[in-house]
Amino acid sequence: MAQLKGTKIFVTGGAGFIGFHLSKKLSSFTRNLTIYDNLSSGKVENIKHLPNVRFVKGDILDLKKLRSQEKTDLIFHLAAQVVVPYSMENPIEDFETNARGTLNVLEKARKDDAQLVFASTAAVYGNPTKLPTPEDYGFNPFSCYGLSKVVGEEYCNMYSKQYGLEVTILRFANVYGPRCHGVISDFLDKISRNPEKLEIIGTGLQSRDFVHVSEVVEALTLSAVSENAVGKTFNIGLGKTTKIIDLAKMILKILNLSDKTVITTTNVSWKGDINTIWFDISKAKKELKWHPRVSLEDSLKEMIMERKMIDVGNAR
Ligand SMILES: NC(=O)c1ccc[n+]([C@@H]2O[C@H](COP(=O)([O-])OP(=O)(O)OC[C@H]3O[C@@H](n4cnc5c(N)ncnc54)[C@H](O)[C@@H]3O)[C@@H](O)[C@H]2O)c1
Repeated sequence: MAQLKGTKIFVTGGAGFIGFHLSKKLSSFTRNLTIYDNLSSGKVENIKHLPNVRFVKGDILDLKKLRSQEKTDLIFHLAAQVVVPYSMENPIEDFETNARGTLNVLEKARKDDAQLVFASTAAVYGNPTKLPTPEDYGFNPFSCYGLSKVVGEEYCNMYSKQYGLEVTILRFANVYGPRCHGVISDFLDKISRNPEKLEIIGTGLQSRDFVHVSEVVEALTLSAVSENAVGKTFNIGLGKTTKIIDLAKMILKILNLSDKTVITTTNVSWKGDINTIWFDISKAKKELKWHPRVSLEDSLKEMIMERKMIDVGNAR
């Protein structure tokens, strides 16, 4: 991390879930951090207490504004439309943000001759037949979100090949932790509202590779300082997969609600939902020297304590 001292850093989407955790870490050792976010889903409260941070409310689709920002050395590009069902309902908007928006950020990187780390996703693989899935499996997206991220990745590769831009692509699995969105926070919210019933969207047999946000932040920062990372793509997950029904049971067990809460399933999921995410993470371990250690069960306990939800189970 010492290598990043004095580096001018620009984080798109820095007011969002992962961006906030990344910016928090970066702000502890650099005075040159700019967060660029249109606050469409991010919150300024997330970042307003961070020291050494300059916040710019801006859209990555506003190329003029983006390019007119102070020259930077390193860009973490996290701004995106991240909701799969929304991408299926609004494919053009999803494409604009994730494909054209990424192209705009690449243009800023080209102008500044800046290094870029791009946040991609498991959704680029769709429903892979090879599990755990390695990086060279190839693209087969099953949602508009997955496809728009493929386009973003391919532009990153093009800028790397043709303009010599230093780019690293990280494909995240399901990221969770404090202030997350997605299935874990959805379950915790539902149980807080009504501890008698927990509804799973889909069959519950879908499974996900859950990786803690602290490990993702570690992977992002390692990618920026590791010479081995330039021009490469890495899977960032825990390398394990958990069925959604087992996740639900795990949460209920921690809350002492196993015998009290009825789990139901809708059996039908949203368009674009994929069956299994299970990453082969051997490349990131070997080349990035990144070794995720945080277990799902331990961090769920922490999240539940933080939300003071332990009372939900005990009160009954
Ligand atoms: N959270 C996960 O499980 C996960 C999994 C795979 C990939 N990713 C990727 O990681 C990145 C961050 O995800 P997140 O979970 O923190 O999402 P998030 O929605 O919490 O954060 C995204 C941020 O981007 C901002 N943003 C959206 N559109 C913008 C635009 N046009 N201009 C400027 N800012 C804009 C939002 O306001 C928000 O602050 C995304 O690129 C996402 O695709 C996340």
